[in-house]
Amino acid sequence: MSDTPTRDRVVIFDTTLRDGEQSPGISLDTGEKLEIADQLARLGVDYIEAGFPIASQGDFEAVHAIATTVRGPVICGLSRTAHKDIDRCWEAIEPAQKRRIHTFIATSPTHMEHKLKMSPEQVLAEAASAVARARGYTDDVEFSPEDASRSDFDFMCDVLQAAVDNGAGTLNIPDTVGYAMPAEWAERIRAIRERVTGDYVLSTHCHNDLGFAVANSLAAVQAGARQVECTVNGIGERAGNAAMEEIVMAIRTRPDTYATVETSIRTEELARSSRMVSRLTGYPVQFNKAVVGRNAFAHEAGIHQHGVLNERTTYEIMDPSMVGQGESKLVLGKHSGRAAFKDTLQKMGIEIQGDALNAAFTRFKELADRKVQLTDADLEALVAEEMGDRVEATFSLVSIDVRAGSETTPSADLVMRVRGEEKSVSVEGSGMVDASCTAVKIATGIDGHLTDYNVMSVTGGVDALADVALSFESSDGLKVSGRGLANDVVEASARAFISALNKIARVRDTGEDPNAMERPGHLG
Ligand code: KIV
Ligand code: ZN
Repeated sequence: MSDTPTRDRVVIFDTTLRDGEQSPGISLDTGEKLEIADQLARLGVDYIEAGFPIASQGDFEAVHAIATTVRGPVICGLSRTAHKDIDRCWEAIEPAQKRRIHTFIATSPTHMEHKLKMSPEQVLAEAASAVARARGYTDDVEFSPEDASRSDFDFMCDVLQAAVDNGAGTLNIPDTVGYAMPAEWAERIRAIRERVTGDYVLSTHCHNDLGFAVANSLAAVQAGARQVECTVNGIGERAGNAAMEEIVMAIRTRPDTYATVETSIRTEELARSSRMVSRLTGYPVQFNKAVVGRNAFAHEAGIHQHGVLNERTTYEIMDPSMVGQGESKLVLGKHSGRAAFKDTLQKMGIEIQGDALNAAFTRFKELADRKVQLTDADLEALVAEEMGDRVEATFSLVSIDVRAGSETTPSADLVMRVRGEEKSVSVEGSGMVDASCTAVKIATGIDGHLTDYNVMSVTGGVDALADVALSFESSDGLKVSGRGLANDVVEASARAFISALNKIARVRDTGEDPNAMERPGHLG
């Protein structure tokens, strides 16, 4: 007989693609969502909340595509309590091997009065009927009383009890507005467990408005919650959701405190997941972010460096390789061939074939020509860029030359292919990036303005690849994001801008909704 105590599994319910994607300025298209979903499966999450299917055609298609292709985690869709929402949600997740419907309705006085304009009795009836409807489709139904931290406890428990009685197997308690404090949140979770009877798993979903999302989630686990809803890098509405990497590593690093629980996460995939989400969403990871920040394992002070050189654990409570933050290996250079390129990607767990492989290899050669060696992180960024551009492009960059100096007006000479024809534009601007973006606007004939612009370097050092993520709003109100990678910031900016404008062209040409642009109301 083994002495190892059996630990309860804390289910990791990832909502990066739903709540995370609701962050201001983030809009992922289906290809980008698929890429993240594949990585979440590799990371080992138990559930992927893939989106909110009724919100828009784009959301529906993305959830459907994830349900069709991603294997491993259970695929979940979010739904309000209206039966048509639930039916649409089911339609989107049906192709998945394992699926869950997550339905919710607000139970706080403020939300019921000002948002729903419903009486508490109506809310209770809605919750019961939604869960029953969802159970008609699947055994795996989750119910959330939105704004639980500001709800009347007795009323909320009545609603939760109705949800369980109608077949909900998971009760998720959201601190929708990030109002709770750790001790009181633990108390609320404990009290719900005591009050609501039946066979269900308690879950927690915490927002970070006061900076307590992770602390509250962990307090809930100690109080008996066995599912945590979280996002990679903690992205989400307003100040975000609980950061998955922090929750997982707290549980892993402090077995004394979390002796009875464990998660299924392959922690070595955390850093890569973080980089991918940052790159695709355009949300930079703060340098000193716990676990996945660039400086999370960097030591500046001499005393610290000396200590770590003698014995890593003097100043490190986690091994960086455990979270995938080991030294980036220098792997490939300009003399490497296609087989080595493919083999390296495979070892990194990245599978690409056919046209995508050819396109990525061509870009690799272009970049390797100008940079001596490419690191794992460079390769990841490069493949991500190519995967993002899988769809036939309306616009592509042929070349860009820019000039600027203290005595010279910044200008750009741009050559692009626009719907199969080559176009050249020369233009001046207030800076080199401005001149190149203006040239792209003239060449494509698409007007509007940048709403966000972020430059990141893929690795450290002055020869690092520049990774630009931006958001753009066209003059007719379409909002899209774009990403570009190059040896220098100006070219990366032009590439990012062109990738955004390709999305606009797709919407105009096909009517495709590139992302959830009109959502039914605001969710936390
Ligand atoms: O924050 C929230 O209340 C939500 C619900 C939909 C669970 O995101
Ligand atoms: Zn939320």
